[in-house]
Amino acid sequence: MPAILEVKNLRKIFSINAGRWRGKSAGPKTVTAVDGLSFAVEEGSIFGLLGPNGAGKTTTIGIVTTRIIPTEGTALVNSIDVVRDPIRAKQIIAVVPQKMNLDRSLKVRENLTFHAAYFGVPRKIREERADELLEWLQLKDRGNDRVDRLSGGMTQRIMIARALMHDPKILFLDEATVGLDPQSRLLIWEKIKELNKKGLTIILTTHYMEEADELCQTLAVIDHGKIIAMDTPENLKKLIPGGEVIEMHMASNTRQLLETLNGIPEIQRVEPLEGMIRLYITPGSKLLTRLVSIVEDHGCELLDVKISHPTLENVFIFLTGKGLRE
Ligand SMILES: Nc1ncnc2c1ncn2[C@@H]1O[C@H](COP(=O)(O)OP(=O)(O)O)[C@@H](O)[C@H]1O
Ligand SMILES: [Mg+2]
Repeated sequence: MPAILEVKNLRKIFSINAGRWRGKSAGPKTVTAVDGLSFAVEEGSIFGLLGPNGAGKTTTIGIVTTRIIPTEGTALVNSIDVVRDPIRAKQIIAVVPQKMNLDRSLKVRENLTFHAAYFGVPRKIREERADELLEWLQLKDRGNDRVDRLSGGMTQRIMIARALMHDPKILFLDEATVGLDPQSRLLIWEKIKELNKKGLTIILTTHYMEEADELCQTLAVIDHGKIIAMDTPENLKKLIPGGEVIEMHMASNTRQLLETLNGIPEIQRVEPLEGMIRLYITPGSKLLTRLVSIVEDHGCELLDVKISHPTLENVFIFLTGKGLRE
């Protein structure tokens, strides 16, 4: 499959205007939000940008969807340069932004039909499509509601419906499920999968590793505006040494305990954290009972032990030394 989005060496440096700058006057006056990103997205796939707050996800989406002019680099959607030809690029893409931007002066259904009219969709088609999308997103009876009366989950679904009104080839979703209850999140996940099955390319950002894991075929892990790893979720998890993770929660630990653990060959990596030690273990080592007595021998109190397989959160910590939510 050919690439439907190609991003090359994208960089965005924001200057912070002195009037808005609240930090120390001697501090930096620019922020490098995106720092040389390159990636390609295969047509028909679900691609994710996974990274913590401030990693540069929204800025990247902003550039690729023509809302932000890059400082450097290029982005091509369906071979169209988004900076040189934003109008043609916009016909192909749809965006569900991180911040709600429905028109509060319009009713739910009008938000959809006005959007389509703006994109030149003929009246009959836009009326039909609005009905279909509202029904599909379980909003059938909400068409005449005011948009500020709706729950977060509904608002998000309306933004998805609106985005689809001009029949785009790529849908960008920027943190589409932040702050939603689990049920609303699951519904949106299902809808994203259904859209992708119909052939739509989906590019999403998230700082939820479960979401990235569940939905994405390819993931770019980003931090400080740079891609630090890019692969399938499965292969990313293989970056973790060993293949098993043991977390020992304890009231306190000692340097001697950490040294002993570091000296055990089946333990590939020791990560001391607040209130716990995380160990990356060679699978099938059957270390657990030995570990418990080692901890006791060092006079440390073990509060809880968890054995798991690596998650994308572990991958992120492994690559950056910090958690996704920090
Ligand atoms: N318009 C802007 N002006 C100045 N700094 C910005 C602007 N937009 C984003 N930033 C900064 O760029 C960095 C990346 O932000 P963003 O792209 O929103 O990250 P993410 O979506 O991953 O949380 C952050 O440090 C943020 O404060
Ligand atoms: Mg963001």
